[in-house]
Amino acid sequence: MRIIATKDYTDMSRKAANIIAAQIITKPECVLGLATGSSPIGTYDNLVSMYENGDLDFSGITTVNLDEYKGLTRDNDQSYYYFMHEHLFDRVNIDPERTNVPNGMEEDAEKECKRYEEFIKSLGGVDLQLLGLGHNGHIGFNEPAPAFDKETHCVDLTESTIEANKRFFASADDVPRQAYTMGIGTIMRAKKILLVVSGEDKAEIVAKAFFGDVTPDVPASILQMHPDVTIVADAAALSKIPR
Ligand code: F6R
Repeated sequence: MRIIATKDYTDMSRKAANIIAAQIITKPECVLGLATGSSPIGTYDNLVSMYENGDLDFSGITTVNLDEYKGLTRDNDQSYYYFMHEHLFDRVNIDPERTNVPNGMEEDAEKECKRYEEFIKSLGGVDLQLLGLGHNGHIGFNEPAPAFDKETHCVDLTESTIEANKRFFASADDVPRQAYTMGIGTIMRAKKILLVVSGEDKAEIVAKAFFGDVTPDVPASILQMHPDVTIVADAAALSKIPR
């Protein structure tokens, strides 16, 4: 596990974008696993600038997103499909046919999860998976649980995640109660993992996840077992790690 310490969110975003850019330049037809949330927005902005400056070509890449709320239509501005188009897909020369987000409108959870998992395998796996980190240690929507969930599955969101995400909805009641997410096994099969984390409110969970025990109580702690993980974190997020 490599930890890249950055000054602040801006610095974190620039460095994370450089790592993704290096992946695209060295393998123009790579498969990128993508995340939503506030952590990667700056990273996406930097990737868009590189594209606009003629330094990055997205035409060969395929993307698979980590997760999607169950029950939100694609044109709902809180859906992760909408988010990805707003922050990245509509701003670069990516082939929309090669962008993939779990289908939140598929009612049959078993069918959708199986389809998504098999689709990722059919691509030959993910070359680089981008992740954020939840306050309770979740990655994707893999919440603290008695065991690690292996494959893409449907989750009931925890109260803490509903609470954290309600800022984007009219009220907590409007936050969907379920989501589709890649499993821990799906994430761990990515060849490389890049996690971006910033802010003092994440400092405690950063220390726990990456310097504590590996346990399904802190899902991100499993990343300690992955052979190629890079964490790009700002000073505030690293403020509680053991020195
Ligand atoms: C989003 C995702 C989530 C977020 C996490 C952190 O696709 O998978 O695990 O990465 O909730 O969210 P932010 O970045 O908003 O703090």
